[in-house]
Amino acid sequence: MVGAGYVGLTTASCLAQLGHTVVGIDVDPIKVHRLNNGEIPIVEEGLEAITQQMLEAKRLVFQHGYSDSIKVAEFIFLCVPTPQDEDGSADLTYIREAATSLLPYLASESIIVNKSTVPVGSTLVVEEIVRRDDIFVVSNPEFLREGSAVHDFLNPDRIVVGSSNKRAAQRVADLYQSINAQVIICDPASAETIKYAANAFLATKLSFANAIAALCEHVGANIDDVMDGIGQDKRIGNQFLKPGPGWGGSCFPKDTRALVKIAESAGYDFELLRGVIDFNEIQFDRIVDKVRKAVGGTLTGKNIAVLGLTFKAHTNDLRDSPALRIVEQLKLQGATINAYDPTVANPLPQTNFCETAKDACASADAILIATEWPEFALLNPKEIGNVVRSKHMIDARNILEADLWRAAGFTYQGVGR
Ligand code: UDX
Ligand code: UDX
Repeated sequence: MVGAGYVGLTTASCLAQLGHTVVGIDVDPIKVHRLNNGEIPIVEEGLEAITQQMLEAKRLVFQHGYSDSIKVAEFIFLCVPTPQDEDGSADLTYIREAATSLLPYLASESIIVNKSTVPVGSTLVVEEIVRRDDIFVVSNPEFLREGSAVHDFLNPDRIVVGSSNKRAAQRVADLYQSINAQVIICDPASAETIKYAANAFLATKLSFANAIAALCEHVGANIDDVMDGIGQDKRIGNQFLKPGPGWGGSCFPKDTRALVKIAESAGYDFELLRGVIDFNEIQFDRIVDKVRKAVGGTLTGKNIAVLGLTFKAHTNDLRDSPALRIVEQLKLQGATINAYDPTVANPLPQTNFCETAKDACASADAILIATEWPEFALLNPKEIGNVVRSKHMIDARNILEADLWRAAGFTYQGVGR
């Protein structure tokens, strides 16, 4: 397993739990040292326990850099970053570097498995670097959600394996045989496209939900009932229909932009997806507008309590977080930010970081719920009402009981509520 981040670490520990013997490789020696001590640098339910068990069972070990231990490997998974380039396309530098670094160690008949999210055609890029008929390259995209990565790995909706060599594809599929899931074996380009299309579709579904929420605010409908009403339709499904401050994280923003670029370089203008991305930017602004309107139309000199900074609950990941995009705008428009998040320790520039949600609400002119941490739904409106300067609640995650807060004298705005 090359790369022991969110995807690499989860994949390594779970494959070991399935009975395989795994060596995790990472360029970060401190991370490697901590991992071998069973310390997990990310918030992921169940991952620490599995990793420690597999370390004790000697089915998992981590090492810094490449070495002869790779020579016995039948499968080499690539889980290195594919960050965005200036123009939004995916940068394959780490993929190329990893493939090149592996060359001296590849055993005959071994398989390089691309698990990183890579543009269509990347399997060919790795094959070009390896240039050996006895080494196969297979695409095996992951669909893990942060916060539930272990569950998603062990209970996938499907397993996708893309290869021009059927036997190699079947060998990779067999690694998961103790998992009960449909296996889709296809060509590499289709497998690579499935990954991007899946994320792009989910982002589109969310932007649609946020657009309907905006419509509800204009026509006086209730988003909860509307989403329930459409979600019961099996063709739509009620998952990923929660309106909010816009979508973020290490995948959706990066992958949607990369897919627009992939299409463009192939001569197709993915206008629909460009609209989805643009609308998500507008959604951030809509939340900022709600806060500004709540405090009288200007943010200058206003104290705003921001509850939640991570891109969603149950993770400590701030990458492309909607909360941070909104905080940035609020600060630019003159607000003072008092923030709280249960998992984030390092303060942000020009942002007061508080120990508790209640502390963050002290002297607030308005409160913004930006991440759906369960503890925020338990806040007592009366108690909070006693510490704020003005009673204005903007619940950008629709997790509060609006009537309770209104009864306590707060103005309440949700998303589509
Ligand atoms: C990464 C990619 O960002 C994503 O596109 C892909 O789908 C899956 O893998 P993630 O696991 O979230 O996602 O990345 P990150 O948590 O940043 O972990 C990457 C790890 O690779 C880090 O531990 C980093 O130290 C390591 N790495 C990076 C290497 O071992 N070698 C490198 O050359 C570069
Ligand atoms: C996503 C995909 O779900 C996963 O399959 C893929 O492998 C990686 O990218 P993740 O980035 O962990 O996973 O986040 P996800 O749970 O999908 O949420 C993405 C964004 O959408 C977050 O900002 C989240 O808050 C938002 N979201 C999600 C909503 O606003 N409403 C919803 O109903 C669901």
